[in-house]
Amino acid sequence: MSCNILAIESSCDETSASVISDGKILNNIVATQSVHEKYGGVVPELASRAHQQHLIPVVHEAMQGSGLALEALSAVAFTRGPGLMGALLVGVSFSKALAYALDLPLIDVNHMEAHVLAHFIEEPRPEFPFICLTVSGGHTQLVLVRDYLDMEVVGETTDDAVGEAFDKIAKLLGLPYPGGPFLDARASKGNPKAFTFPVSDMKGLSFSFSGIKTAVLYFLKGHLKENPNFIQENMEDICASVQYTLIKTLIQKLKKAAKQFHIHNIAIAGGVSANSGLRWTLQKEAAKQGWQVFIPKMEYCTDNAAMVAMAAHYKYQKGLFCGLDISPLAKMKI
Ligand code: KG4
Ligand code: ZN
Repeated sequence: MSCNILAIESSCDETSASVISDGKILNNIVATQSVHEKYGGVVPELASRAHQQHLIPVVHEAMQGSGLALEALSAVAFTRGPGLMGALLVGVSFSKALAYALDLPLIDVNHMEAHVLAHFIEEPRPEFPFICLTVSGGHTQLVLVRDYLDMEVVGETTDDAVGEAFDKIAKLLGLPYPGGPFLDARASKGNPKAFTFPVSDMKGLSFSFSGIKTAVLYFLKGHLKENPNFIQENMEDICASVQYTLIKTLIQKLKKAAKQFHIHNIAIAGGVSANSGLRWTLQKEAAKQGWQVFIPKMEYCTDNAAMVAMAAHYKYQKGLFCGLDISPLAKMKI
């Protein structure tokens, strides 16, 4: 008999559902919440309400597209955390209710493990062990992956996530939200050595991104006093220099981790892995270091339920189910 799992993702501002059958993703429906754009950041209460509005239509579309009836499901999976508590609650409550109504087992998934397991949705799949640099709006982690469900965080940020740094600096420059992709587009036309910003020097494999944000703020304040048009006149060079500094920090730690654990398979995941500068620098570094690099398709880099379904598939195989008394966790470790 086939193993068919419906998976739900609702940890931040994407409402997503995906159906997986015997380890093969049948579809991945994502509803992105545009309601946050005018606020320049995700508003938690609005995210919860938008999840409530989108979840049933998204699940309906995923089930219809899969060609499977609800009765054909073997389990229901959901993101338990980490994420926004109100947003998680919508997905968790829905999944519990559906599993109860259909008398199906429930599978709880860690969102950060799911980002890593997005690499197993399609070929080429990395061989174990590998290191995954997960870079998103909420996280910056170096994960040593020994097996599908055997991972260890070996380094992470002590303050802001790198995506947050991209977004906050883009906001200082007057770019729309989320600023990462806008900063990336401007950076590709600028000189990365035009301005110098501090590269954080944290111990071991830890990251810090709050320093550069403050440095850019004071840099801009200083220049704007002398020339009110400083940003407009130098936008591309500022973006290129900021992006260069952020990527330098990421690559430095990645190199350190690869050396420390003798790893040659390197993967990146999360929304910031869409960054053209990071992709290019990683390819260049791979050639130098003899790394094999894995970057999932864009739709599997940003938040999606297909990665949750993939994680659920491996948990199902091991019989790792949870009870109906489970609750979401805003903070949840790998
Ligand atoms: O993984 P994701 O979709 O959501 C979570 O935060 O979990 O990541 C979103 C982050 C945002 O900070 C966004 O600005 C950033 O990914 N991002 C980028 C690019 N595309 C998305 N950052 C830099 N360059 C990009 N091209
Ligand atoms: Zn994410």
